[in-house]
Parts: sequence; structure tokens; C-alpha cells
Amino acid sequence: MRILGIAVAMLLVTSIAAKTSFSQSMLRPSDSKTVTRGSLIYQQHCSSCHGKNLEGAPSWRLRLPNGKLPAPPHDESGHTWHHSDKILFSLTKQGPTKIIGGDYKSDMPGFDKILTDDQIIEVLSYIKSRWPKEIQKRHNLLNDRSR
Ligand code: HEC
Repeated sequence: MRILGIAVAMLLVTSIAAKTSFSQSMLRPSDSKTVTRGSLIYQQHCSSCHGKNLEGAPSWRLRLPNGKLPAPPHDESGHTWHHSDKILFSLTKQGPTKIIGGDYKSDMPGFDKILTDDQIIEVLSYIKSRWPKEIQKRHNLLNDRSR
């Protein structure tokens, strides 16, 4: 009984530790199941705007005639990797309009009614898994700093 008690206590400590690290680094680009699920979500919900191969819309740096921005790439040539996990998560969940506020207009919807929180983590994990290792490392450092 006593040993079981200790085992349970140890399990609790490890799960609390896991939760804490979850809040700093939410994405799991090295977990193949997560990445596979994320790639399917990406093709279904993101690729029409951000490109099948994460390449973004053509001339994505130039504003459209209506003043809005075209969808940027999610590969290393864009600035997705300059944002922490938390910011990427909120941008996807709430949509840029809500995050930026004011009368800012964006073609990107918030996915809060379409995808679960886990699915948002999965799709962003897939995006991160496509960055070169060096960029993934820089992004990990950025997450640590943005705690
Ligand atoms: C209808 C088109 C459209 C769809 C679908 C779409 N996006 Fe976007 N997304 C955009 C546009 C346009 C922007 C540029 C930001 C703006 O409008 O201010 C953007 C920006 C972003 C950004 C910010 C990138 C940066 O560098 O700041 C993230 C993150 C993002 N999208 C993730 C996603 C994910 C994940 C999905 C799928 C679940 C998705 N988007 C689906 C159009 C779309």
C-alpha cells in the first residue's frame, strides 16, 4: 500500500511537471501521430489559403486591392516561426481580426467553432515539423523567452 502511495505521488509530480512544460511549449513537432493528424487538418482547413505546401499566396507581401493581406507562407520563408506557440494558438483559435483588434480586417476566420484546442495544437505542430531543424531550435528559444 505504502509503495503504491509513493508511486501515485510520483505520478502526480511528473504529470504536474508535464503540464507546466505544456504551457511553455504547446506544440509537438516530433510526435509522429500528432504531426500526421495535423497534416490532414492542414490540408482540409488551411491549405486553400496558405498553400498545399505551406508556400502561401503568390505575392503575399503585397496588400490586396481591398487593403487586406494575402495569406502568408507557413514555411521558413514566412514569419509564422517568429511567433511563440501561445500567439500562434490564439491567432488560429480567435482569428487575426480579434487578436489585432480595432477595425483590422482579415480573410482568416477564427477556428474556435471549427477545430478543438487539440486539433489546433496538431495542425500547428505539423507546421512546425516542416521547418528546418535550425529554425525549430530558434523557435524553441523564442518560446522559452516568451514565458
Ligand atoms: C480564408 C483564408 C485562410 C484560411 C482558410 C486560413 N488562413 Fe491563416 N491567414 C490568412 C491570412 C489572409 C493571414 C494574414 C494575416 C492577416 O490577414 O492579417 C493569415 C495568417 C495566419 C497566421 C499568422 C501568420 C503570421 O506570420 O503572422 C497563422 C498562424 C495562421 N494564419 C494559421 C492558419 C491555420 C493554422 C489555418 C488552418 C487551421 C489557417 N491559418 C487558415 C488566411 C487564411
